[in-house]
Amino acid sequence: MSDKVDFGPLAELIGVWKGDKGSDLAPEPEGSEVSPYSETITYTAVGDVKNAESEVLAVVRYHLEVMHKLTNEKIHDETGYWMWDASTGTVINSLIIPRAVCVLAGGKFNSTVDENGQITLDVKAAVDHADWNIIQSPFMKDKARTNGFTRTVTVGNGKMKYFQNTQLSIYGKEFDHTDQNQLTRQP
Ligand code: HEM
Repeated sequence: MSDKVDFGPLAELIGVWKGDKGSDLAPEPEGSEVSPYSETITYTAVGDVKNAESEVLAVVRYHLEVMHKLTNEKIHDETGYWMWDASTGTVINSLIIPRAVCVLAGGKFNSTVDENGQITLDVKAAVDHADWNIIQSPFMKDKARTNGFTRTVTVGNGKMKYFQNTQLSIYGKEFDHTDQNQLTRQP
């Protein structure tokens, strides 16, 4: 591993971010529940790794914590990595949530810079995807299965927003468990 690394589009992420405009739509047995939330995400530069003497990935590690705005209860915790493969223009997000669910989501990076000077990271995974998959415990597979996951992060100039959809099968129905927030990089 080296720490003299070109993080490519991931360079925009590194730092501590906070935002309190989060909105979560989660499943309930009788329907759904919307929770307003605040969030802290810490992205740390790791360096690069070489796989099979050929593939080089630049790596950023992150941890995020989500608190309900009204109760201050923690409603989500997530840890993972973002990886950048400059040779193929691929971004990868591996993530773990403490419900015994792991996701390996990937996508091609579109280098367009928008009118706000921001770039977008787009990744997806699905249980039946050829490349990017989801692993979950037998209980979750049976009772609260994650079938698919998409995440879009727009970042630049110290601002970030994201939208993500976790496609679930739970309580006998299909449910789009969605989350979105806007964050600013802390000085
Ligand atoms: C900002 C991000 C997220 C927030 C705020 C959030 C919040 C919630 C909440 C409030 C519930 C309802 C159950 C409960 O009260 O604990 C829930 C359920 C669930 N979430 Fe999330 N979630 C987030 C992201 C994710 C992600 C990324 C995944 C998986 C890839 C995920 C998977 C699930 C599953 C499988 C359930 C159903 C479990 C159950 O209700 O019994 N969530 N989430």
